[in-house]
Amino acid sequence: MMYGFLACRGSQKATRNWLSSYNLSRSVHSLPFVTVDAEGISGSQPAKVHNLVQGKWMGSSTWNTIVDPLNGEPFIKIAEVDETGIQPFVESLSKCPKHGLHNPFKSPERYLLYGDITAKAARMLSVPKVSDFFTRLIQRVAPKSYQQALGEVQVTQKFLENFSGDQVRFLARSFAVPGNHLGQQSHGFRWPYGAVAIITPFNFPLEIPALQLMGALYMGNKPVLKVDSKVCIVMEQMIRLLHHCGMPLSDVDFINSDGKTMNKLLLEANPQMTLFTGSSKVAEKLAVDLKGRIKLEDAGFDWKILGPDVNEVDYIAWVCDQDAYACSGQKCSAQSILFMHENWSATSLISKMKDLAERRKLEDLTIGPVLTLTTEAMLDHMNKLLQIPGSKLLFGGKPLEKHSIPSIYGALKPTAIYVPLEEILRVKNYELVTREIFGPFQVKGEFFFFLSFFMLF
Ligand SMILES: NC(=O)c1ccc[n+]([C@@H]2O[C@H](COP(=O)([O-])OP(=O)(O)OC[C@H]3O[C@@H](n4cnc5c(N)ncnc54)[C@H](O)[C@@H]3O)[C@@H](O)[C@H]2O)c1
Repeated sequence: MMYGFLACRGSQKATRNWLSSYNLSRSVHSLPFVTVDAEGISGSQPAKVHNLVQGKWMGSSTWNTIVDPLNGEPFIKIAEVDETGIQPFVESLSKCPKHGLHNPFKSPERYLLYGDITAKAARMLSVPKVSDFFTRLIQRVAPKSYQQALGEVQVTQKFLENFSGDQVRFLARSFAVPGNHLGQQSHGFRWPYGAVAIITPFNFPLEIPALQLMGALYMGNKPVLKVDSKVCIVMEQMIRLLHHCGMPLSDVDFINSDGKTMNKLLLEANPQMTLFTGSSKVAEKLAVDLKGRIKLEDAGFDWKILGPDVNEVDYIAWVCDQDAYACSGQKCSAQSILFMHENWSATSLISKMKDLAERRKLEDLTIGPVLTLTTEAMLDHMNKLLQIPGSKLLFGGKPLEKHSIPSIYGALKPTAIYVPLEEILRVKNYELVTREIFGPFQVKGEFFFFLSFFMLF
C-alpha cells in the first residue's frame, strides 16, 4: 500500500484528499492516530501512556502518576514496567538477529518502506493541526514557549523530509576498492547493530527521541526506546503517528520505567549498542555497565567568551538572553557561564540582558518550571556562589511569584551571578562555579586583554 503513495497520479490525488481531511478536521480528536487531547488533559481527565512490546500496546499493573508542572494536578498516568516486568522486552530484543531487520542483502525493500513512512510522517507534521497538537503536548509536559516547542516539531518535520522518498537507502551506501590482482576486491557495507536501545531525557520530548529513533530504524536496527517518564506521552503519540504512516507494529518497542529498571533491561537484553542522552552521572555508569557498547550525548556546562572587540551590543544581549534562558535554561546547549572582556563592562550589555530577562513571564512560558531541580536547590547553589569573595548578584535570584508550580519542581527568575575570574580559577571554587545547573541560571566572569591573547594559541 505504502509503495504506491508517491509513485502514481491516483495516489497523489488520494494524498491531497487525505491531507485536506486533516485540515478540515474540527478538533484534535479527529486526528486518526491520537489517543489524547493535548488541551484537555487534566486532573479530572487524565491521559494514559502505554508500553509497546512485540507489536502490542500494553497497560501495566503499576501506574505512575505525573503531575501537571504548572499546577500540580495529577494529570498523566504512565503504565510503568518494574524490574519484574522486563521479560517481554528482553525476549523482543533477543528475536532480532545481529544482522538486523534489514541490511544491504536482507529485505532491501525496507529502505524504500522507511522512505515512504517518513514522507508520509513529514507531510502529516506539516499539517497545522498536527504540528499544533504536538507543540501543545510538548508544552503541557515540558513547559516552554509556543515558539520553542514548535521549533522541535519543525526540526523533526524537516529531518523527516530529508529522509523521504528513496533517501534512506543512500544511508547504506557501500564502497568497493580494487585489490592487488584479478578477482580481489575489498567491499565495505553499512551494517545495522541489530537490537539496540535509545534512552532520552526530559528536555526535548519529541526532537531528540524522534530523530534518534528514525536513524536507528533506517539502518535496520530494532530499537527499544525509553523516554523520561515526565514527557514520554509525546513520543507515545509520535509512535502512533508512525504506525498510522505504515511503520510495522513490531519494529519498535517502547518502555516506560524508572532508570533502575531500564538499567536492568540493558544488562539482561544486552543490546549491541545503546544511544544515551542525559546527565553525565548516568552516562558514566552506563559506559561501565555496558562495557563501552554505548554512544553518549551527555551533560554540558556551556561557555561563551566575548572577546575585546565590542560590537552590536543589542544583538549580543539578545543572543545571550536566548542562550541562557530560553526553555528556562533547560537546553543541553544552555549558556552556563559567560566570560567577557573588560571592554564590555563599559557598555550597557549587562543592563540590556537584565531588561530582556525581566521581560520573560510565566504566562507565555518564556520562563517556566525547572523539571530536575527545586527552587531551594537553585537558591542554595546561588548562595554558595555569593559567598565567594567579590561575587555579586547581577539580576534575578528570587523565586517566581504568583504561580502554582508544584514544589517538586523549580520556579526561579532568570538569574545571573558575577564571580571574579581569579576566584573562578581557585581550585576550591572551580568545581562549585562550573557545576551544571539545568535551569535559568548563569555565572559571569570578566577577563583582561592578556588572557584573550593567550586564548588565541
Ligand atoms: N548532549 C546532549 O545532546 C543533551 C541533550 C539533552 C540533555 N542533555 C543533558 O541531560 C541532562 C538532563 O536530562 P535528565 O535530567 O533527564 O537526565 P538523566 O540522566 O537523569 O536521565 C536521562 C534518561 O536516562 C534515564 N535513566 C536514568 N538512570 C538510568 C539508568 N541507570 N539506566 C538507564 N537509564 C537511566 C532517565 O529515566 C531518562 O530517561 C542534563 O545534564 C543535560 O545537559 C544532553
